[in-house]
Amino acid sequence: MKKEIIIITGISSGIGFYLANYLSEEGHIIYGILRNKEKFYKNLEENKITKKDNLELVQMDVRDYNEAEKLINTITNKHQKIDILINNAGYGLYGVFEELNDKDIRDQFETNFFAPLKWIQMVLPFMRKNNYGKILNITSILGRLTIPTGSAYCSSKHALVALSEVIRYEVAPFNIQVCSVEPGLIKTDFKNNMKFSTDLDNKNSPYYKLNQKIKEQLTKYPSIVTTADAAAKKIQLLLKKENLPAHFQIGIDAGFYYNLKTILPEGFLDFLIKEYTKRVFR
Ligand SMILES: NC(=O)c1ccc[n+]([C@@H]2O[C@H](COP(=O)([O-])OP(=O)(O)OC[C@H]3O[C@@H](n4cnc5c(N)ncnc54)[C@H](OP(=O)(O)O)[C@@H]3O)[C@@H](O)[C@H]2O)c1
Repeated sequence: MKKEIIIITGISSGIGFYLANYLSEEGHIIYGILRNKEKFYKNLEENKITKKDNLELVQMDVRDYNEAEKLINTITNKHQKIDILINNAGYGLYGVFEELNDKDIRDQFETNFFAPLKWIQMVLPFMRKNNYGKILNITSILGRLTIPTGSAYCSSKHALVALSEVIRYEVAPFNIQVCSVEPGLIKTDFKNNMKFSTDLDNKNSPYYKLNQKIKEQLTKYPSIVTTADAAAKKIQLLLKKENLPAHFQIGIDAGFYYNLKTILPEGFLDFLIKEYTKRVFR
């Protein structure tokens, strides 16, 4: 793999943290976007990783589009190109739809959908001029199927999956490839960073049982789960491929649920999830 100019968002923890460090070890010039440098350095220390000089930390919120534009200008003035954009920053908002407030849903879409959209819009002209580029959007298997209480998260990720597909077709003539990376459950800081509806613990809520059940499941891990560094390694290998697939799933669970959705008759998964939800209420 030649030395490339790479932007990765959300590198203070989880998949982005490992990916930024692994790619910098290959000698690429990495611009790692993060809000929390302390958290990044703490993770370096805990994982006994030494930060490479070619990994530049850029402290900003991915939703600060003025700062993002300034950064893109700085990078392109210095290197005359941007080769790879990895839209990784994101978080989960969970809670039954009726109990989610409008602001929280809009915030979820701003981070998980509109921010990647804006970053893609900003890098595309440079990739097009250079007739080369790779864009990875870290979506989710929940961008291909849905679960109760995931209305905001699932729909933000479904939107990003659709956007990835459409852009992929449009920019293919310019030798730019776009891939939706769809992880299953990965052990990262994701669960600590999750936001919930304010009513989640309200005993008077008609959805109380479902809220509690989902909360319980969303805050613990099964015994076999993909680790953040393993997920990052998969993405590192994916980037070495000459031709990126439209969709790339990570984790046995992602493959399993996707097969359930696509191989079995459509009504089957629908039935299973509806029955599960009804049972929780009994
Ligand atoms: N873990 C899973 O099971 C799983 C499954 C499917 C998909 N994903 C997706 O994978 C991606 C990475 O998540 P992860 O699992 O590695 O979780 P994570 O450890 O929570 O990492 C998410 C990163 O995104 C950053 N971030 C969030 N909002 C941001 C913002 N507005 N500006 C800048 N940075 C922001 C966080 O920074 P702070 O530390 O500052 O909050 C954090 O560094 C996400 O898009 C997530 O939706 C995760």
